[in-house]
Amino acid sequence: MLGKQRFGNTFRLAQCAVLAAGLFPLQAAVKEDAFGKMPDGRAVQIYTLTNKAGIEARIMSYGGILVSLKTPDCRGAMADIVLGFDSVDGYLKNPGPYFGALIGRYANRIGQAKFTLDGKQYTVPKNDGANSLHGGTQGFDKRLWTGKILPDGGLELTYASKDGEEGYPGNLKATVVYRLTDANELRIDYTATTDKDTVVNLTNHSYFNLKGAGSGDILGHLVTIAADRYTPVDAGLIPTGELRAVKGTPFDFQKATAIGARIGQPDEQLKIGKGYDHNWVLKRKGNGMELAARVEEPTSGRVLEVLTAQPGLQFYTGNFLDGTIKGKGNLVYGHRTGFAMETQHYPDSPNQPKFPSTELKPGETYKTSTVFRFSTVK
Ligand code: BGC
Repeated sequence: MLGKQRFGNTFRLAQCAVLAAGLFPLQAAVKEDAFGKMPDGRAVQIYTLTNKAGIEARIMSYGGILVSLKTPDCRGAMADIVLGFDSVDGYLKNPGPYFGALIGRYANRIGQAKFTLDGKQYTVPKNDGANSLHGGTQGFDKRLWTGKILPDGGLELTYASKDGEEGYPGNLKATVVYRLTDANELRIDYTATTDKDTVVNLTNHSYFNLKGAGSGDILGHLVTIAADRYTPVDAGLIPTGELRAVKGTPFDFQKATAIGARIGQPDEQLKIGKGYDHNWVLKRKGNGMELAARVEEPTSGRVLEVLTAQPGLQFYTGNFLDGTIKGKGNLVYGHRTGFAMETQHYPDSPNQPKFPSTELKPGETYKTSTVFRFSTVK
């Protein structure tokens, strides 16, 4: 069972009683409400999932966005630990950071906004300099998904992406199920099928601040990442193809280290990313779900663990947040006030023959999952 996985000595037994994880991952209660409207008048729904420990996750049908996520700290005080907005309008007006959104058809960057598949070149939108980022100008984060509450209490979101949409080949049917379990896990299961050869890389783009969204920077969070290599990038944040050892660099998070401890070092890769904005090559024991990262916030005692079966993890420290965005409760989101842990394939894989393939063919089913697991330490 997932709960047994741990990072050697960084695992703490002294968990706050309030979050003593349930033994069985039972399913939370779900309710559906109207949340707002798309510019064309279509209704946007919001779904509230709650579990026995009182954790509450709210997800809306626009962009499949995780709008809020309330978890207790080690004293039992609840806080919303993801950045976002109070209304659909906030997201429509500020799409730049991709707060909480489902990202597709291809998460992260595609170099020069083109790739070749079966000998044919495909061009996708340039929305990040010369490159394509997060599925193009109208990626899955800007689509209205169809929501359905499943008998087990999961929230199923579906989106049918047409052949040629944002330049990608094949009609792609994407299904994402969010579940909040009584083991204090927010689990996201992604599946997709296609009718033509295509590329797929789906993820969720939540920005966490374990002190609470809007309560300062994330530099004191202690991060562990199960990776001994990462993919260095060029000036446009496209991987060079090298898998570089993290040892002896500010990218070594094999032992719990504060985000801010080395972020200001004169490292060429940190300069390019304006901080951490890189893909770590996860050390994997097999093909199943494994612990990819653990984040502990010392003042609240909140702990986030990220599990995945994907080969990579993009760890992004909110370097482009600059205080111009006011989020939920009118709080200002300044520089590095949230971090993202995006489970995924390596960036630019369609152009990098040495990276694991992101191709999906008709008859195959793309399947991936992310688990965000919550606990506390004293
Ligand atoms: C990327 C960043 C980007 C951010 C918001 C992250 O996944 O790696 O470079 O600024 O998303 O778009």
